Amino acid sequence: MKQWIDRLRRERTLRPEEFRQLLTECDAELLRYINKQAQEVSLLHFGNKIYIRGLIEISNCCRNNCYYCGIRKGNPNIERYRLTQESILDCCKQGYESGFRTFVLQGGEDPVLTDNKIERIVTNIRQEYPDCAITLSLGEKSRNTYERFFKAGANRYLLRHETYNEAHYQQLHPAEMSGKRRLQCLQDLKDIGYQTGTGIMVGSPGQTVEDIVEDILFIERLRPEMIGIGPFLPHHDTPFAQCPSGTVAQTVLLLSIFRLMHPSALIPATTALATLASDGRERGILAGANVVMPNLSPREERKKYELYNDKASLEAESAEGLIVLQKQLNAIGYEISTERGDFIQCTTDY
Ligand code: 5AD
Repeated sequence: MKQWIDRLRRERTLRPEEFRQLLTECDAELLRYINKQAQEVSLLHFGNKIYIRGLIEISNCCRNNCYYCGIRKGNPNIERYRLTQESILDCCKQGYESGFRTFVLQGGEDPVLTDNKIERIVTNIRQEYPDCAITLSLGEKSRNTYERFFKAGANRYLLRHETYNEAHYQQLHPAEMSGKRRLQCLQDLKDIGYQTGTGIMVGSPGQTVEDIVEDILFIERLRPEMIGIGPFLPHHDTPFAQCPSGTVAQTVLLLSIFRLMHPSALIPATTALATLASDGRERGILAGANVVMPNLSPREERKKYELYNDKASLEAESAEGLIVLQKQLNAIGYEISTERGDFIQCTTDY
């Protein structure tokens, strides 16, 4: 299968059956090989620089009831919060002073955070920080709403499709949600001109290898600027509390597949991967990831944004811990970049 990996690097794709076999039969040696190939491609495109994005979790209130997610509407056991505009701007200020040039506003689908309010927040951040990128990750909105946020100054939007297969989508979400709607949102975001991110959880309940192959092929067609891949991790207050986590091996295999297929995509080593294994972030980078997203949220709220058990939010996961992060990255030959880190299409062969 080494030849397939070489071909994946050259031609940026494989046949569905080859992907399927790679996903089921990749042993430790082959995993090391594909990780190395992907790391090389990442080094060729980005050098040894890792972009940082300041994550601001603006609300853990959500109208949705996704079975995997700790901040689902049906969880009565978490303390809900919503940051004020002042608090969000304060997070940006602290982030800016630490060197962040991208702010990611992430939150549940909170009906109290109306389009007007979000638009105002984006407008104010844009005015205050003209040199920064604003990324939103606020779930499904109408095309019109996405357009308003874009005009207000947002540049990027993260919306994982979670799974391309509709039957699997229905296993992860209540009936009122639809995979089709999610895909329409992604198309709208792309059409409007956002740098668009999508992705999946690895090892989510009910996920089959065929589902993952469909996800790979969907992402190939969509050509998103950002690809978010992290392991599923159970949360104790959800219907999936007893389900097993995704594995580090499967996650870094997929990271490498995506890096080889999408050399210039912005791919984070996710917090979920860092939560699953103490060396998760490093393993992600050594498999081709080139972004990390430290937490800029106020300390008191951080533990309330618990999407899964034991979500990492201290040390290298936090903005205060940038020095720790810098050390971890140095130890594997990388450095933090304080550039904005916009998507740049690669034009050469790697
Ligand atoms: N485990 C891993 N990732 C999760 N997310 C939500 N809940 C979990 C979980 N239990 C991810 C989803 C979502 C992103 C913000 O967090 O993929 O898109």
